[in-house]
Amino acid sequence: MRKVFLSYNPPSIGEGERTEVMDTLASPWVTTGPKTKAFEVALMGYMGASGVVALNSCTAGLHVGLLAMGVGPGDEVLVPSLTFCATANVVEHVGARPILVDVCPDTLTLSPDRVAEAITPRTKAMMPVHYAGHPVHLDELDALAERHGVMMLEDAAHAISTRYKGRLIGSRSNLAAFSFYATKNLTTIEGGCLTGEAKLVDRARIIGHHGMSRDAWNRFDRSGSWYYEVVLPGFKYNMTDMQAAIGLVQLGRLEQFQKRRREIVDRYMLGLSGCDALELPIEKEWASSSWHLFVIRLKPGRLRVDRNRFIEVLKSRNIGTSVHYLPVHMHPYYRDKYGYRPQDCPVSTDAYERMISLPLHPGLSNQDVDDVVEAVTDLVREHLA
Ligand SMILES: Cc1ncc(COP(=O)(O)O)c(C=O)c1O
Repeated sequence: MRKVFLSYNPPSIGEGERTEVMDTLASPWVTTGPKTKAFEVALMGYMGASGVVALNSCTAGLHVGLLAMGVGPGDEVLVPSLTFCATANVVEHVGARPILVDVCPDTLTLSPDRVAEAITPRTKAMMPVHYAGHPVHLDELDALAERHGVMMLEDAAHAISTRYKGRLIGSRSNLAAFSFYATKNLTTIEGGCLTGEAKLVDRARIIGHHGMSRDAWNRFDRSGSWYYEVVLPGFKYNMTDMQAAIGLVQLGRLEQFQKRRREIVDRYMLGLSGCDALELPIEKEWASSSWHLFVIRLKPGRLRVDRNRFIEVLKSRNIGTSVHYLPVHMHPYYRDKYGYRPQDCPVSTDAYERMISLPLHPGLSNQDVDDVVEAVTDLVREHLA
């Protein structure tokens, strides 16, 4: 058994990030400024996006994204039931109604069949989530969106480096919001960005910066002016140069991070493939996952332990895990406000009850992965029904 507790998902911060942060601290400009601009340009180049705004979270990106798209009171927005609460919360923030839609049983991403059933004349937008880094089936969702005049805002919190049919998420003209939170594949500790068509992204940028018609840092470099105008009552969602300094270094390391994630996933797949009582994650032939999460599910009736006990036993063996997520329709706020029952999104409810996210981050050694595999396979063998 492992002697040291294996953290579920610590960030991979190195010397390069520390040096850039110190450099920024020693510079005359520490908040939104030249490094934030450089980070936006680098992200634009990496993703092939026509517009990018760096923000202080993905939640901020989703919020200003909906506002830039003109979503508001009276509108319905389709949100997958299996997601982090922020995807639905921002719909409430803009006064629209989130309609919780079930996911596909294999990829756990928004189901195009359920979307087709949920669309009404009030549906203004859909917010597909590239769950765990696996892309949604964009062609099928695009076809529905086009047929019914529905806009799309991708929740790409898990999806930096995810590809759909070879194309990077973030390269499309519709808006997509990414998270650079501490546990994400690329981190700025807290942070995020919004990508998409330049005009829409520029509108979102203004909404996310007090509604000011100019960026604050432009007022302070030589070419800038002290003058600005407020064109709407915006929010304070800008990224700082301290965050961007970390992001720039992380972006340079992303390819190497992703290579290691894939090696770890291959090792898990090989090590766990003999456990018939487990359902392992899949990658569709049209998908290239960022492998943000490695979510396994206990097969019904195959084990004498439930998911919660499984997590406790792994913890007692010094393996940290997590659960992604308690579905939105089961949170008290959404359940009580809209009268959702667990059976309204049966795939999400069932997946939630059986799922465990195993440790997955580039800092894992082969020995760490083998320790997890050994703990899981022992547990399964000892508790077969
Ligand atoms: C699917 C999803 N959407 C949105 C968010 C919000 O991201 P942030 O913490 O950057 O606001 C997260 C964060 O974990 C997430 O997993």
